[in-house]
Amino acid sequence: MDRLLDSLFPSAENIPETWRLGAPLEQRDYLVNGELKRWDGPLATVRSPVWLKEGTEERQVLLGSAPLLDADTALTALDAAVQAYDKGRGAWPNMRVAERIQHVETFLARMREQRQAVVKLLMWEIGKNLKDSEKEFDRTCDYIVDTINALKDLDRRSSRFELEQGTLGQIRRAPLGVALCMGPYNYPLNETFTTLIPALIMGNTVVFKPAKFGVLLIRPLLEAFRDSFPPGVINVIYGRGRETVSALMASGKVDVFAFIGTHKAASDLKKLHPRPHRLRAALGLDAKNPGIVLPQVDLDNAVEEAVTGALSFNGQRCTALKILFVHEDVVEAFLDKFQRKLAALKPGMPWEPGVALTPLPEPGKVDYLDGLVADAKAKGAQVLNEGGGHSRGSFFYPALLYPVNHDMRVYHEEQFGPLVPVVPYRDLQTVIDYVLDSDYGQQLSLFGNDPATIGSLVDTFANQVGRININAQCQRGPDTYPFNGRKNSAEGTLSVHDALRVFSIRTLVATRFQEANKALISEIIRNRQSSFLTTDYIF
Ligand code: G3H
Repeated sequence: MDRLLDSLFPSAENIPETWRLGAPLEQRDYLVNGELKRWDGPLATVRSPVWLKEGTEERQVLLGSAPLLDADTALTALDAAVQAYDKGRGAWPNMRVAERIQHVETFLARMREQRQAVVKLLMWEIGKNLKDSEKEFDRTCDYIVDTINALKDLDRRSSRFELEQGTLGQIRRAPLGVALCMGPYNYPLNETFTTLIPALIMGNTVVFKPAKFGVLLIRPLLEAFRDSFPPGVINVIYGRGRETVSALMASGKVDVFAFIGTHKAASDLKKLHPRPHRLRAALGLDAKNPGIVLPQVDLDNAVEEAVTGALSFNGQRCTALKILFVHEDVVEAFLDKFQRKLAALKPGMPWEPGVALTPLPEPGKVDYLDGLVADAKAKGAQVLNEGGGHSRGSFFYPALLYPVNHDMRVYHEEQFGPLVPVVPYRDLQTVIDYVLDSDYGQQLSLFGNDPATIGSLVDTFANQVGRININAQCQRGPDTYPFNGRKNSAEGTLSVHDALRVFSIRTLVATRFQEANKALISEIIRNRQSSFLTTDYIF
């Protein structure tokens, strides 16, 4: 392990040409009211999870800096969004859907041009491997395309009138107002855009604050945002949440709060809003998804899924399997196979081919994981895999912890990192109780092939979590499926289709089905005197 760690971080000249960095990027731009403004105040230092060898030393790479806007400056972005929305009278919220779609298509074309730049920064800023960074970028573009198609579909269905009990009506989805969109550092592009794009396309105006890591990678998109949307429709701010976002929420001018992060931060921010009943929230929060391995099981498949479920992107996914309950009859074989698979995962730098384990972006994370391991060990667990828990700088080699029990911190805390706690069980009720008593309710995985047991567990858990995965790891995709959670894990449901609904409200125009009214409505439509009352069909 020592040899592995010694050779983990490269020297600058060993980085492939394509992925080398230039000088540190001093990023001072932010976007307000269609203008890229320059911030002359303090900056936050942006460091990479990657360290480089310099002679006999290893040093963390300095990537650059990003603006630390103050509350007043953040509020100018909010004011721009408020003004562009103009109490629902602005050009954007009143624009025909087909035109709004064109703006988003323009943005998408410009965004695609920045693929290489964004992918490179994804690797350097959050340590995501090349394959997954490319996947994140491409998946986000696909999400935008799917959103456009879903909106066309929705609009086509809204383009017809309905007649119910003598009342003629047209129902369309209208925007809600000003949306504040904030994403997480593990998917700084994808997760942010899965709220940002639906918010925009439905006619809301937006203030977007990038995640705490994965900040610089938004820079290549600022011009695309500026040029693709009318002024004030999308505003991009930077800075500490405490300083900036708190002020926005306390102003009471945010109508929709889209946030992916911890439930504590979400609750604290929501509480600042003076009129909570006027705030709609779409939240993706903490999770501690269990994987439950039953005694009758295809063990190879269970292990395969559990390894990627627990360790892809070093376990830094909200959907990661964060605790494994394995039946005593199969636990020995499970642990043995798990260790072999784990040993085959390649540690290295994000751009290296086939790399699976990479350095972690959060300062202090290695110490936190060390603390969880020490606590578990003190209470009777062992690290089973060779080198498990060894670390160097920002890199932490995954630790398979066994046997884990209720008294250990890792049994309860969301580790969000490369720690795999395995709890042996004999009585399935103990596992059921874990799920029932958990503060989280995002997803779980069941591994087994006995129909009676799986059938009954599906019923037991259907009211506990948002998704039950059978013989498969937990995951968000495909993005057309609902993504949500119960308890402290989420508020609202996202999917391509659901997000359009989250960021809008159904509005009905109704009249009695009488000759004069029919003639009136027909005239409005024929003369194109309304963009709401229209039978236009988007192709
Ligand atoms: O971090 C949470 C993400 O939504 C998980 O998405 O399951 O596709 O990795 P994923």
